Amino acid sequence: MAKLTILTEEDPQLRKISRPVAEITPRILTLLDDMLETMREADGVGIAAPQVGILRRVVVVEVEPGNVIELINPEIVDKSGSQVGIEGCLSLPGKHGICDRPSYVRVRALDRTGTVREYEGTELLARCFCHEIDHLDGILYSDVADRMLTPEEWEDYVGESEE
Ligand code: NI
Repeated sequence: MAKLTILTEEDPQLRKISRPVAEITPRILTLLDDMLETMREADGVGIAAPQVGILRRVVVVEVEPGNVIELINPEIVDKSGSQVGIEGCLSLPGKHGICDRPSYVRVRALDRTGTVREYEGTELLARCFCHEIDHLDGILYSDVADRMLTPEEWEDYVGESEE
């Protein structure tokens, strides 16, 4: 596995629409492995291929340590409810914002063997699915956030959650 460079906010690649994966080649499998390593090294819970400069519809999520979900050509096929919470992104280091997301989503995607699978997410997993799939369409959470937090607000939030 290899650690990849994570593109940041101002990089135009992050604003492009990623193309579907037509065939799961060894390169796609290597990409999945490298994305996982890169995400873990950066202490993230989700990463999308355009964040590492590959404009393909590929996402890796690991909200629960050890439970890695690999999504190829993911689509949200059902969603309901709403949850307001704080979001960050490996491509916007040091920033955080408040986003309203569905409280439940169902995602359909191919796994690395090419099998169609569905995943249900609530709470952080639902938020993460929405955030990562948005990346595939060039959308950053800062575009959909109700508002961004000031550094002081983030400090207060972290301070409170550590008490
Ligand atoms: Ni992100």
